[in-house]
Amino acid sequence: MRILVTGGAGFIGSHVAAAFQEAGHEVCVLDNLLTGSKENLPPSLNLTWADLRDPFLEQNINELDFEIICHHAAQISVPRSVEQPSADAEINISGMLNLMQIARRWKITRVIFSSSGGAVYGDPENIPVDENTPPDPLSPYAVAKLSGEAYLRYYQRAYGITFVVLRYANVYGPRQAPVGESGATAIFMKHLSERTSPTIYCPPGMPEGAVRDYIYVEDCVAANLLALHGGDNQIFNIGSGVGTATLDLWQQLVKASGVSDPPRVTMAGQRPGDVRRTVLDCGKAKRELGWEPKISLPQGLTATWQWFVNK
Ligand SMILES: NC(=O)c1ccc[n+]([C@@H]2O[C@H](COP(=O)([O-])OP(=O)(O)OC[C@H]3O[C@@H](n4cnc5c(N)ncnc54)[C@H](O)[C@@H]3O)[C@@H](O)[C@H]2O)c1
Repeated sequence: MRILVTGGAGFIGSHVAAAFQEAGHEVCVLDNLLTGSKENLPPSLNLTWADLRDPFLEQNINELDFEIICHHAAQISVPRSVEQPSADAEINISGMLNLMQIARRWKITRVIFSSSGGAVYGDPENIPVDENTPPDPLSPYAVAKLSGEAYLRYYQRAYGITFVVLRYANVYGPRQAPVGESGATAIFMKHLSERTSPTIYCPPGMPEGAVRDYIYVEDCVAANLLALHGGDNQIFNIGSGVGTATLDLWQQLVKASGVSDPPRVTMAGQRPGDVRRTVLDCGKAKRELGWEPKISLPQGLTATWQWFVNK
Protein backbone atom coordinates (compact mmCIF):
# COMPACT_ATOMS: atom_id res chain seq x y z
CA MET A 1 0.00 0.00 0.00
CA ARG A 2 1.06 3.61 -0.49
CA ILE A 3 1.06 5.38 2.86
CA LEU A 4 1.68 8.99 3.86
CA VAL A 5 2.93 9.25 7.44
CA THR A 6 2.55 12.79 8.76
CA GLY A 7 4.85 13.61 11.66
CA GLY A 8 6.97 10.72 10.45
CA ALA A 9 10.23 12.43 11.43
CA GLY A 10 9.03 12.60 15.04
CA PHE A 11 9.37 10.10 17.85
CA ILE A 12 6.42 7.73 17.30
CA GLY A 13 5.91 8.52 13.59
CA SER A 14 9.48 7.57 12.67
CA HIS A 15 9.10 4.12 14.26
CA VAL A 16 5.74 3.65 12.52
CA ALA A 17 7.00 4.80 9.11
CA ALA A 18 10.03 2.50 9.29
CA ALA A 19 7.83 -0.45 10.30
CA PHE A 20 5.39 0.20 7.42
CA GLN A 21 8.32 0.22 5.01
CA GLU A 22 9.78 -2.96 6.49
CA ALA A 23 6.37 -4.58 6.03
CA GLY A 24 6.67 -3.88 2.29
CA HIS A 25 4.59 -0.73 1.94
CA GLU A 26 5.54 2.35 -0.04
CA VAL A 27 5.96 5.13 2.52
CA CYS A 28 6.41 8.87 2.34
CA VAL A 29 7.01 11.01 5.41
CA LEU A 30 5.59 14.52 5.73
CA ASP A 31 7.03 16.69 8.47
CA ASN A 32 7.96 20.33 9.11
CA LEU A 33 10.68 19.27 11.58
CA LEU A 34 9.15 21.41 14.34
CA THR A 35 10.09 18.78 16.90
CA GLY A 36 11.06 15.97 14.53
CA SER A 37 14.45 15.38 12.98
CA LYS A 38 15.88 13.89 9.78
CA GLU A 39 18.20 11.75 11.93
CA ASN A 40 15.15 9.84 13.15
CA LEU A 41 14.64 8.43 9.65
CA PRO A 42 16.49 5.58 7.96
CA PRO A 43 18.03 6.71 4.62
CA SER A 44 15.52 4.55 2.74
CA LEU A 45 12.62 6.80 3.81
CA ASN A 46 11.73 9.90 1.81
CA LEU A 47 11.08 13.06 3.79
CA THR A 48 8.87 15.75 2.33
CA TRP A 49 9.31 18.97 4.28
CA ALA A 50 5.83 20.43 4.50
CA ASP A 51 3.62 22.17 7.04
CA LEU A 52 0.10 20.94 7.74
CA ARG A 53 -1.08 24.56 7.87
CA ASP A 54 0.22 25.39 4.38
CA PRO A 55 -2.67 26.29 2.02
CA PHE A 56 -0.53 24.86 -0.81
CA LEU A 57 0.17 21.62 1.08
CA GLU A 58 -1.30 19.49 -1.67
CA GLN A 59 1.26 20.67 -4.23
CA ASN A 60 4.09 19.62 -1.89
CA ILE A 61 2.97 16.04 -1.46
CA ASN A 62 1.56 14.91 -4.75
CA GLU A 63 4.41 12.65 -5.92
CA LEU A 64 2.73 9.47 -4.71
CA ASP A 65 -0.80 8.36 -5.23
CA PHE A 66 -1.52 7.56 -1.57
CA GLU A 67 -4.20 5.21 -0.32
CA ILE A 68 -3.70 5.67 3.40
CA ILE A 69 -2.76 8.54 5.68
CA CYS A 70 -1.31 7.76 9.09
CA HIS A 71 -1.59 11.07 10.91
CA HIS A 72 0.99 11.65 13.64
CA ALA A 73 1.96 15.29 13.03
CA ALA A 74 0.88 17.52 15.90
CA GLN A 75 1.77 20.17 18.41
CA ILE A 76 2.25 17.80 21.35
CA SER A 77 2.86 20.02 24.38
CA VAL A 78 -0.05 20.27 26.85
CA PRO A 79 1.47 23.29 28.68
CA ARG A 80 1.98 25.09 25.33
CA SER A 81 -1.62 24.39 24.38
CA VAL A 82 -2.72 25.98 27.66
CA GLU A 83 -0.60 29.08 27.02
CA GLN A 84 -1.36 29.38 23.30
CA PRO A 85 -4.62 27.57 22.51
CA SER A 86 -4.94 29.20 19.08
CA ALA A 87 -1.45 28.14 18.00
CA ASP A 88 -2.27 24.59 19.16
CA ALA A 89 -5.57 24.62 17.25
CA GLU A 90 -3.92 25.94 14.08
CA ILE A 91 -1.82 22.77 13.85
CA ASN A 92 -3.99 20.19 15.62
CA ILE A 93 -7.39 21.26 14.25
CA SER A 94 -6.99 23.49 11.17
CA GLY A 95 -3.88 21.61 10.01
CA MET A 96 -5.68 18.31 10.32
CA LEU A 97 -8.66 19.72 8.41
CA ASN A 98 -6.34 20.87 5.65
CA LEU A 99 -5.09 17.29 5.46
CA MET A 100 -8.60 15.83 5.47
CA GLN A 101 -9.63 18.04 2.55
CA ILE A 102 -6.68 16.60 0.62
CA ALA A 103 -7.69 13.10 1.74
CA ARG A 104 -11.14 13.76 0.33
CA ARG A 105 -9.85 15.06 -3.02
CA TRP A 106 -7.34 12.21 -3.34
CA LYS A 107 -9.92 9.58 -2.51
CA ILE A 108 -7.85 8.31 0.42
CA THR A 109 -9.50 5.15 1.73
CA ARG A 110 -8.24 5.10 5.32
CA VAL A 111 -6.89 7.51 7.92
CA ILE A 112 -5.18 6.28 11.08
CA PHE A 113 -5.13 9.01 13.73
CA SER A 114 -2.99 9.23 16.84
CA SER A 115 -5.23 10.62 19.53
CA SER A 116 -4.49 10.77 23.24
CA GLY A 117 -5.98 8.40 25.78
CA GLY A 118 -3.91 10.20 28.40
CA ALA A 119 -5.66 13.50 27.65
CA VAL A 120 -9.19 13.09 26.26
CA TYR A 121 -10.72 11.39 29.33
CA GLY A 122 -9.55 14.14 31.70
CA ASP A 123 -9.49 12.98 35.32
CA PRO A 124 -11.87 10.02 35.31
CA GLU A 125 -13.62 8.91 38.51
CA ASN A 126 -12.77 5.28 37.92
CA ILE A 127 -9.71 3.75 36.32
CA PRO A 128 -8.92 2.01 34.06
CA VAL A 129 -11.05 3.89 31.51
CA ASP A 130 -12.49 2.22 28.46
CA GLU A 131 -13.61 3.86 25.22
CA ASN A 132 -17.20 4.24 26.46
CA THR A 133 -16.09 6.66 29.18
CA PRO A 134 -17.35 10.12 28.25
CA PRO A 135 -14.44 12.38 27.22
CA ASP A 136 -13.73 15.30 29.52
CA PRO A 137 -10.82 17.29 28.09
CA LEU A 138 -8.88 19.44 30.58
CA SER A 139 -6.57 21.17 28.10
CA PRO A 140 -6.81 22.76 24.65
CA TYR A 141 -4.56 19.93 23.41
CA ALA A 142 -7.18 17.38 24.52
CA VAL A 143 -9.99 19.47 22.99
CA ALA A 144 -8.10 19.49 19.69
CA LYS A 145 -7.54 15.72 19.72
CA LEU A 146 -11.25 15.15 20.35
CA SER A 147 -12.11 17.55 17.52
CA GLY A 148 -9.86 15.52 15.24
CA GLU A 149 -11.80 12.38 16.15
CA ALA A 150 -15.13 14.14 15.48
CA TYR A 151 -13.93 15.38 12.10
CA LEU A 152 -12.92 11.84 11.19
CA ARG A 153 -16.46 10.67 11.93
CA TYR A 154 -17.77 13.47 9.75
CA TYR A 155 -15.48 12.60 6.82
CA GLN A 156 -16.45 8.97 7.19
CA ARG A 157 -20.17 9.77 6.97
CA ALA A 158 -19.87 12.42 4.28
CA TYR A 159 -17.17 10.91 2.05
CA GLY A 160 -16.77 7.29 3.14
CA ILE A 161 -13.18 7.66 4.38
CA THR A 162 -12.54 4.85 6.86
CA PHE A 163 -10.82 5.89 10.08
CA VAL A 164 -9.08 4.18 12.95
CA VAL A 165 -8.43 6.25 16.08
CA LEU A 166 -5.62 5.09 18.34
CA ARG A 167 -5.85 6.78 21.73
CA TYR A 168 -2.31 6.32 22.99
CA ALA A 169 -1.44 6.34 26.66
CA ASN A 170 1.94 7.88 27.57
CA VAL A 171 4.33 6.58 24.96
CA TYR A 172 8.05 6.22 25.67
CA GLY A 173 11.05 4.70 23.94
CA PRO A 174 14.07 5.49 21.78
CA ARG A 175 14.08 8.86 19.94
CA GLN A 176 11.65 10.56 22.29
CA ALA A 177 12.78 14.15 22.78
CA PRO A 178 12.97 15.40 26.38
CA VAL A 179 10.07 17.85 25.89
CA GLY A 180 6.35 17.59 25.16
CA GLU A 181 3.11 16.36 26.58
CA SER A 182 4.35 13.16 28.06
CA GLY A 183 8.09 12.98 27.71
CA ALA A 184 8.67 12.22 31.41
CA THR A 185 10.81 9.19 30.59
CA ALA A 186 13.00 11.10 28.14
CA ILE A 187 13.26 14.08 30.50
CA PHE A 188 14.22 11.78 33.37
CA MET A 189 16.90 10.07 31.26
CA LYS A 190 18.52 13.41 30.53
CA HIS A 191 18.51 14.33 34.22
CA LEU A 192 19.83 10.94 35.23
CA SER A 193 22.70 11.02 32.73
CA GLU A 194 23.61 14.61 33.68
CA ARG A 195 23.02 13.96 37.42
CA THR A 196 20.67 16.96 37.63
CA SER A 197 17.52 16.99 39.74
CA PRO A 198 14.27 16.12 37.92
CA THR A 199 11.02 17.82 38.96
CA ILE A 200 8.01 15.69 39.85
CA TYR A 201 4.69 17.51 39.62
CA CYS A 202 2.28 16.45 42.34
CA PRO A 203 -1.46 17.06 42.20
CA PRO A 204 -3.02 17.73 45.64
CA GLY A 205 -3.08 14.59 47.76
CA MET A 206 -0.70 12.71 45.43
CA PRO A 207 2.76 12.95 47.05
CA GLU A 208 4.32 10.54 44.53
CA GLY A 209 3.11 12.56 41.54
CA ALA A 210 0.47 11.98 38.93
CA VAL A 211 -0.36 8.42 37.84
CA ARG A 212 0.18 7.57 34.17
CA ASP A 213 -0.07 4.57 31.88
CA TYR A 214 3.28 4.08 30.09
CA ILE A 215 3.36 2.20 26.80
CA TYR A 216 6.49 1.28 24.85
CA VAL A 217 6.71 2.72 21.34
CA GLU A 218 7.09 -0.68 19.63
CA ASP A 219 3.72 -1.68 21.07
CA CYS A 220 2.20 1.42 19.43
CA VAL A 221 3.87 0.46 16.16
CA ALA A 222 2.18 -2.93 16.35
CA ALA A 223 -1.20 -1.23 16.79
CA ASN A 224 -0.58 0.91 13.69
CA LEU A 225 0.32 -2.16 11.62
CA LEU A 226 -2.94 -3.84 12.68
CA ALA A 227 -4.88 -0.64 11.96
CA LEU A 228 -3.87 -0.84 8.29
CA HIS A 229 -6.29 -3.76 7.88
CA GLY A 230 -8.68 -3.73 10.85
CA GLY A 231 -10.56 -1.64 13.36
CA ASP A 232 -12.62 0.19 10.73
CA ASN A 233 -14.31 3.33 12.08
CA GLN A 234 -13.42 2.46 15.65
CA ILE A 235 -11.63 4.11 18.54
CA PHE A 236 -9.08 2.08 20.50
CA ASN A 237 -7.23 2.74 23.73
CA ILE A 238 -3.58 1.77 23.32
CA GLY A 239 -1.88 1.51 26.69
CA SER A 240 -0.40 -0.93 29.19
CA GLY A 241 -3.39 -0.92 31.55
CA VAL A 242 -0.93 -0.34 34.43
CA GLY A 243 -0.83 2.87 36.47
CA THR A 244 2.59 4.17 37.52
CA ALA A 245 3.17 7.20 39.76
CA THR A 246 5.83 9.60 38.49
CA LEU A 247 8.14 8.94 41.44
CA ASP A 248 7.82 5.20 40.81
CA LEU A 249 8.73 5.77 37.15
CA TRP A 250 11.87 7.62 38.24
CA GLN A 251 12.80 4.83 40.67
CA GLN A 252 12.21 2.13 38.05
CA LEU A 253 14.36 4.06 35.59
CA VAL A 254 17.18 4.44 38.11
CA LYS A 255 17.04 0.69 38.67
CA ALA A 256 16.99 -0.13 34.93
CA SER A 257 19.95 2.19 34.30
CA GLY A 258 22.15 0.76 37.03
CA VAL A 259 23.22 4.32 37.98
CA SER A 260 24.44 4.15 41.57
CA ASP A 261 24.53 7.88 42.39
CA PRO A 262 21.23 9.28 41.07
CA PRO A 263 20.36 12.93 41.77
CA ARG A 264 17.65 13.80 44.29
CA VAL A 265 14.22 14.60 42.90
CA THR A 266 12.48 17.98 43.34
CA MET A 267 8.77 17.88 44.18
CA ALA A 268 6.48 20.62 42.80
CA GLY A 269 2.74 21.34 42.50
CA GLN A 270 0.42 20.30 39.70
CA ARG A 271 0.80 22.04 36.31
CA PRO A 272 -2.29 23.58 34.64
CA GLY A 273 -3.91 21.17 32.20
CA ASP A 274 -2.21 18.09 33.68
CA VAL A 275 -4.48 15.17 34.53
CA ARG A 276 -4.09 13.51 37.94
CA ARG A 277 -4.61 9.87 37.13
CA THR A 278 -4.96 8.06 33.85
CA VAL A 279 -4.88 4.35 33.14
CA LEU A 280 -6.40 2.83 30.00
CA ASP A 281 -8.50 -0.30 29.65
CA CYS A 282 -7.34 -1.78 26.35
CA GLY A 283 -9.69 -4.77 26.19
CA LYS A 284 -11.38 -3.49 23.03
CA ALA A 285 -8.06 -3.37 21.13
CA LYS A 286 -7.41 -6.94 22.21
CA ARG A 287 -10.87 -8.19 21.20
CA GLU A 288 -11.36 -6.29 17.95
CA LEU A 289 -7.86 -5.47 16.68
CA GLY A 290 -5.98 -8.46 18.06
CA TRP A 291 -3.56 -6.10 19.83
CA GLU A 292 -2.08 -6.27 23.28
CA PRO A 293 1.00 -4.75 24.89
CA LYS A 294 4.04 -7.01 24.91
CA ILE A 295 6.79 -4.93 26.54
CA SER A 296 6.73 -4.41 30.32
CA LEU A 297 7.86 -1.11 31.83
CA PRO A 298 11.17 -2.53 33.18
CA GLN A 299 11.93 -4.08 29.75
CA GLY A 300 11.04 -0.88 27.90
CA LEU A 301 13.01 1.35 30.28
CA THR A 302 16.08 -0.86 29.97
CA ALA A 303 15.89 -0.80 26.15
CA THR A 304 15.34 2.98 26.09
CA TRP A 305 18.22 3.65 28.50
CA GLN A 306 20.53 1.48 26.33
CA TRP A 307 19.55 3.57 23.30
CA PHE A 308 20.00 6.80 25.26
CA VAL A 309 23.53 6.05 26.46
CA ASN A 310 24.67 4.72 23.06
CA LYS A 311 23.19 7.41 20.80
N1 LIG B 1 4.16 10.79 22.96
C1 LIG B 1 3.03 10.45 23.56
O1 LIG B 1 3.03 9.95 24.67
C2 LIG B 1 1.72 10.64 22.87
C3 LIG B 1 0.54 10.29 23.55
C4 LIG B 1 -0.70 10.44 22.92
C5 LIG B 1 -0.75 10.90 21.62
N2 LIG B 1 0.42 11.26 20.99
C6 LIG B 1 0.31 11.75 19.62
O2 LIG B 1 1.17 11.00 18.79
C7 LIG B 1 1.65 11.83 17.73
C8 LIG B 1 3.16 11.79 17.67
O3 LIG B 1 3.68 12.29 18.90
P1 LIG B 1 5.23 12.20 19.27
O4 LIG B 1 5.31 11.95 20.72
O5 LIG B 1 5.93 11.30 18.32
O6 LIG B 1 5.67 13.70 19.05
P2 LIG B 1 6.74 14.35 18.09
O7 LIG B 1 6.79 15.82 18.43
O8 LIG B 1 8.03 13.62 18.15
O9 LIG B 1 6.09 14.15 16.66
C9 LIG B 1 5.25 15.09 16.05
C10 LIG B 1 5.80 15.38 14.68
O10 LIG B 1 4.93 16.29 14.01
C11 LIG B 1 5.71 17.26 13.34
N3 LIG B 1 4.90 18.47 13.18
C12 LIG B 1 4.48 19.31 14.15
N4 LIG B 1 3.76 20.30 13.61
C13 LIG B 1 3.71 20.08 12.28
C14 LIG B 1 3.12 20.79 11.19
N5 LIG B 1 2.42 21.92 11.37
N6 LIG B 1 3.26 20.28 9.94
C15 LIG B 1 3.98 19.14 9.73
N7 LIG B 1 4.58 18.45 10.73
C16 LIG B 1 4.44 18.92 11.99
C17 LIG B 1 6.92 17.47 14.23
O11 LIG B 1 8.04 18.04 13.57
C18 LIG B 1 7.19 16.04 14.72
O12 LIG B 1 8.08 15.36 13.86
C19 LIG B 1 1.08 13.22 18.00
O13 LIG B 1 -0.09 13.38 17.25
C20 LIG B 1 0.74 13.18 19.47
O14 LIG B 1 -0.28 14.09 19.82
C21 LIG B 1 1.63 11.13 21.57
